[in-house]
Amino acid sequence: MHSDPKTSLDLNHPEFVSDPYPFFAAERARHEAALNEAGILLTFSHEATSAVLRDRRLQRLWKDREVEGRPAGYLEPFNVLHRNQMMENEGKVHTRLRRPVAAAFNRGHVERLKPRVQELAAQLLDEVDPDGFDVISQYAEPLPVLVIAELLGVPTSYADDLRDWSQAIVKMYEPAVSTERVDAAVAAGQAFADLVRDFVGHRRAKPADDLISDLVATDLSEDEVVASVVLLLNAGHEASVNVFGNGLVSLLEAGEKPAAGPAGVALTIEEMLRFDSALQLFERTAVEPVEIAGTTVEPGQKVWALLGAANRDPKAFEEVDRFIPDRDPNPHLAFSAGIHFCLGAPLARMELVESVGLLFERFPTLNLRKAEPRDTFVLKGYETVEVAR
Ligand code: HEM
Repeated sequence: MHSDPKTSLDLNHPEFVSDPYPFFAAERARHEAALNEAGILLTFSHEATSAVLRDRRLQRLWKDREVEGRPAGYLEPFNVLHRNQMMENEGKVHTRLRRPVAAAFNRGHVERLKPRVQELAAQLLDEVDPDGFDVISQYAEPLPVLVIAELLGVPTSYADDLRDWSQAIVKMYEPAVSTERVDAAVAAGQAFADLVRDFVGHRRAKPADDLISDLVATDLSEDEVVASVVLLLNAGHEASVNVFGNGLVSLLEAGEKPAAGPAGVALTIEEMLRFDSALQLFERTAVEPVEIAGTTVEPGQKVWALLGAANRDPKAFEEVDRFIPDRDPNPHLAFSAGIHFCLGAPLARMELVESVGLLFERFPTLNLRKAEPRDTFVLKGYETVEVAR
């Protein structure tokens, strides 16, 4: 009798979190996808992961979070921001929420931001001590925060708050969350929404040349505008920071440099996105029976698309465990696929090309001193990455 493949992979195990790739390779050698003890299907191959992300019968279905030990409704400040944003919706609601912001992030618009990104990157590098600095807190983190805040029209004096609130909120996406982290996420959600609601009120009264004003002028509800702004502020920097950190560490550990010329740097950015994925797991829920790599998931059953596993599949990439700065083609899934494909991909790519390019222009012999990884898997990154010229 046919029995579905099973996995007992523990995504919370410290050994797994510190280096998931050997675990992925071992799983992939046995099956493209497998069910864990909770009946969730995990995808390990590029083909299965890509199929999951593109299948409209597998959806992001938001369910308000609750936690034991806290009263019902306690998580509302966190929930309201998710319930009302494009990434947690499907179909017509998703389109209605995505369309008004899509234009602002297309390639043409993003090209126009380039001089400002170059200017900010140069200013940040002027401030570092070339004999040793943390490239995360001094460069990789402030740059995308400042860019997305300016774009939306949030004063950059709030940059530290935005960063802290975002960090507290995204900790909720990990498979195990402590009560302290829940409390921090609720407080952050509340403070974040209060601030954004304030700006929304101001722009309603007096529109300015920024994205909040554009959103206020649409037919989105107040909660939807606030949730969209918070999503953009968070998504607009959270992953970029980790792509920069993970990619730079991978590149330097491999003894490599970015490939030559702007086109070369662009290829290196794609390899940074592939090699050590900053976003590792996205969940979908079946709304109809769907067959994935031989296993059928039933309505209500969950699937975890493992982007980092897909990006190391030897069937999709040659010399998969080697960082190749000019790898081409590079069909990685770091920006997802299907209707939720990253809206900010052109902006993220431009920021990374400019910032990584300038870093190596200034410090051609850049070397890695020490890198301190975070203890999270879903959002994989480094707390600090110390480098010197
Ligand atoms: C290198 C940095 C980035 C990476 C790796 C990344 C990755 C992703 C991924 C994987 C998704 C899809 C989630 C899913 O399929 O369920 C996504 C969605 C999204 N990203 Fe990004 N992202 C990055 C930067 C940005 C930036 C700079 C923005 C700024 C606007 C942004 C805005 C969004 C939005 C709004 C969505 C939701 C799209 C939708 O649901 O239709 N991202 N991103």
